[in-house]
Amino acid sequence: MAKKKEQFKNDRALRFYYEVLGLERLHYGLWTDEDERSLEGVKTAQKRYEDFLVEKIKKLAPSPVDCSVLDVGCGSGVMSQTLYEKSFEVEGLSPDLYQKEVFEKRIPVPFHLARFQTFTPSKKYDIVLMSESAQYIPMKRLFENAANCLQKQGYLMVCDYFTFDHASGPLAKSGHRLSTFLELAKESGFNLVEDQDITGETIPTLDTARDFAHRYILPSIDIFSEKLTQKYPLLFRASQWLFRKKIRKAWNNLALLDSEEFAKNKSYRYMLFQIGQEGS
Ligand SMILES: C[S@@+](CC[C@H](N)C(=O)[O-])C[C@H]1O[C@@H](n2cnc3c(N)ncnc32)[C@H](O)[C@@H]1O
Repeated sequence: MAKKKEQFKNDRALRFYYEVLGLERLHYGLWTDEDERSLEGVKTAQKRYEDFLVEKIKKLAPSPVDCSVLDVGCGSGVMSQTLYEKSFEVEGLSPDLYQKEVFEKRIPVPFHLARFQTFTPSKKYDIVLMSESAQYIPMKRLFENAANCLQKQGYLMVCDYFTFDHASGPLAKSGHRLSTFLELAKESGFNLVEDQDITGETIPTLDTARDFAHRYILPSIDIFSEKLTQKYPLLFRASQWLFRKKIRKAWNNLALLDSEEFAKNKSYRYMLFQIGQEGS
């Protein structure tokens, strides 16, 4: 039987963050107490997170020109661009058509339109970087293919959130289970060489997003709905019924913006694994 051709989509959320909010990066960022809890604060925190990872990469590779990095789930490519400007031999990968377009405008380096779990590398990399993208890749395939993509004793750098064994409720639904992830890493020949819990520095993003939604998005919806109810009552009720699932989903997503619940159920980690280190 012929293999089904993989389909790729256009990420509308990225377009919204990028074109409407002016956010180039797609991760939580790394906050300090001094950062203003605002959109500008998000940008500062995101830049700090990027610097944090770039410093970690620089420590692994004193000579960037000899170090190849595969930026898995590269988003709009800002991190790749920073690495490129620092002379790393970087390549991007994402299953998203809009990201491909933005990435290719940004830097003249290879972009792989692919899901990592089905990606076939044509070379071996020194570092496979997963900045908030590991959560989208099935765990077993993540380690199998990272092993396939890496040089002997290469590094897998993962920065992402994970769920605890006791996690429950809506926040338990996204992110890999931390204990299983670590077990699978070990079974797949990946040795954990660095592990940092950065939950406290990442979750102010949730408070800021919740505040933003309550201050701007919800009041705008209220005003808009009021106007529609007055002008087109029937049409308004019909559209509410038609979009009821989407409306419910949006409300449920608001419940996810709870930093205390996040910290009870999840851990945001920076983890560095090296392949084939132990006993090799
Ligand atoms: C939260 S964004 C992080 C983007 C970027 N790394 C950053 O730190 O700003 C998640 C990224 O993972 C990508 N992604 C989703 N599923 C993927 C998969 N199966 N394989 C590789 N990347 C994937 C998305 O398209 C997006 O680029």
